[in-house]
Amino acid sequence: MSFTADRLLLFGATGDLAQRMLLPSLFALDADGLLAPDLKIVGTARSSMSDGEYRNFARAALEKYLPAERRGSMAGFLNRLSYQPLDATTLEGYAALAEKVGAPERGLAIFLSTAPSLFEPTIKGLQSAGLTGETVRMCLEKPLGTNLATSREINDAVAGAFPESRIFRIDHYLGKETVQNLLALRFANLMFEPLWNAAHIDHVQITVAETVGLEGRVAFYDDAGAIRDMVQNHMLQLLALVAMEPPAHFDATAVRDEKVKVLRALRGVTSQETVTGQYRAGAIGGQAVPGYDEELGKGSDTETFVAIKAHVDNWRWKGVPFYLRTGKRMPKRVTEIVIQFRCVPHSIFAGKGATMRPNQLVIGIQPEENITLSLMAKVPGLDREGIRLRSVPLNIAMPDAFSGAVRRIAYERLLLDLVEGDQTLFVRRDEVEAQWEWVDAIRAGWAADGLTPKTYTAGSWGPSAAIALAERDGVTWHE
Ligand code: BG6
Repeated sequence: MSFTADRLLLFGATGDLAQRMLLPSLFALDADGLLAPDLKIVGTARSSMSDGEYRNFARAALEKYLPAERRGSMAGFLNRLSYQPLDATTLEGYAALAEKVGAPERGLAIFLSTAPSLFEPTIKGLQSAGLTGETVRMCLEKPLGTNLATSREINDAVAGAFPESRIFRIDHYLGKETVQNLLALRFANLMFEPLWNAAHIDHVQITVAETVGLEGRVAFYDDAGAIRDMVQNHMLQLLALVAMEPPAHFDATAVRDEKVKVLRALRGVTSQETVTGQYRAGAIGGQAVPGYDEELGKGSDTETFVAIKAHVDNWRWKGVPFYLRTGKRMPKRVTEIVIQFRCVPHSIFAGKGATMRPNQLVIGIQPEENITLSLMAKVPGLDREGIRLRSVPLNIAMPDAFSGAVRRIAYERLLLDLVEGDQTLFVRRDEVEAQWEWVDAIRAGWAADGLTPKTYTAGSWGPSAAIALAERDGVTWHE
């Protein structure tokens, strides 16, 4: 049913995500007049707080995390907020929560940003209080399980109370402007699609490099590791968007149908096609940083870096490797997709001494939002000693191309889509399960082969074996 919710209920309302992302995003939407005037936001968490105390808490979070240029008068936004303490594990408090939410005029959107162990009891509690009816949507934040089996348990529990059409699974990478722009680049331009296949593309690289380390998320991260924290969700979503067939429409069913086909076509990966690493003390930007084991306070076999050579086994991508890598404590923060085209089939300039380089398309997702296409051009001159060709970039810096447009954080888009009920940028159950199936098999291979992470120095691009993984195929990681 289509409706714009007039109630938003935030579980985990005092948590890190709420402070850093959800409250600032909702504030920014409100400041731009994008929230319905009657939208009320109810926060809930274990801590005992009055409405006034929660508003103060929210104000402090906004002052801390809102970029200076987005700050403004907060009173109107804070007035939308109220708070109800709740122990989510027992049924007792849910009636009072329902009372606090009140009877929505149009509908309720619930955002669950809590430990996954609370998902099931929360759903039961919501059911007991009549908060799962037809005009209620449920939004789930990762991690949705730690493997296929546990993700199914969560999905089954949620499906017991909500149909898929009312379940919104967040992958915040889908809310990023440049990620959506990938679809525009591919499907709103004529020139790429005819070349977007194994006949013309040599390989694809996807890098998500971070400079941060554990950031205080010790217990969570050590149980997850890079493959489950970043590859299972964000990187596979990027891969699916790069590799999918053109959907017939930009809508939730068409886009997700195409993505899931790609995810199901991922070939199993052998341990030789992966490299894992764990950072040791080093320096980033001239600043000394401790090793993972030091931050953790003990030894661990959790990978903070992973590189994978993947394949999509279908007609379009036959034989095209997709090199994926992600890591903490890399030299710089960068998320980018590199499409490496093949060489021209025949060089008419070979007899004139010119060397050719294949075209390359680099889609910068963050921090720079750039699209760069390298093209061959002739170096100016009279060419008495032969023709010289050089690769030159055709560069679109998105912030310059759209200088008037507001840059929004991913959650602004996703929260608005949730309130309005558009599932296109949310992940469907079959996608999540295909993602887990692939990742579980890789992890099982690591366990069977006794693979443990190699060390790398913080501030480097991971273990040297990751460079070798690509170089064995004559490929150099883009840096
Ligand atoms: C989260 C991971 O999903 O994504 C974090 O749990 C990671 O470990 C973060 O740091 C990266 O997000 P972004 O938007 O900063 O690239």
